[in-house]
Amino acid sequence: MADKSGKLDQLNFRIIDTDSDDYGQTLLIRHEILRRPLGKSIAEDDLSRENEDCILGAFYGEQLIAMATLKDSSEKDALLRYVVVDETWRRSGIGTAIILRLEEEARRRNKKSIRLMARITVVPFYENLGYSKIGEPFIPDNHSVVHVWMARDL
Ligand SMILES: CC(C)(COP(=O)(O)OP(=O)(O)OC[C@H]1O[C@@H](n2cnc3c(N)ncnc32)[C@H](O)[C@@H]1OP(=O)(O)O)[C@@H](O)C(=O)NCCC(=O)NCCS
Repeated sequence: MADKSGKLDQLNFRIIDTDSDDYGQTLLIRHEILRRPLGKSIAEDDLSRENEDCILGAFYGEQLIAMATLKDSSEKDALLRYVVVDETWRRSGIGTAIILRLEEEARRRNKKSIRLMARITVVPFYENLGYSKIGEPFIPDNHSVVHVWMARDL
């Protein structure tokens, strides 16, 4: 996937600690993109163990414009969550770049596969990255959006 716009080159990628000032920005971007449009709040998510996860951010200067998290779900598998890119930065390879970096991190942790729960609307994005659908689409509890499980071997 080429960076047609040159936007990717303007960004710095770094791990975000839950104790850092940057962590507040992760709550804001997740709230605005993933929760508010559904009439929900990120404050309803249980993030109490997020300090155990790898939270990767893409920054334009000090502004967080994209992120995702990687959770150890079992000895061999990792779970990819909270994949978001600010609307004005989309379709420039940033979501792809974040996931490729988290896949590297999962390999470093000796994981053999990555799973994720995809919104049905963005299945082509994950298929483009080599993920395949597992099972039937479903609506998770406390949600209004159809999702499907997807996975890929590392
Ligand atoms: C899904 C999302 C993270 C993709 O981020 P992005 O940086 O725009 O993705 P990329 O530029 O890396 O896309 C790579 C390729 O994936 C595919 N793709 C990306 N977004 C797509 C979409 N909305 N629909 C269909 N295909 C898509 C395209 O093939 C794209 O290549 P192209 O731009 O050359 O056509 C972003 O659209 C987003 O934040 N959406 C809202 C939040 C969300 O739904 N997150 C996922 C929760 S499961």
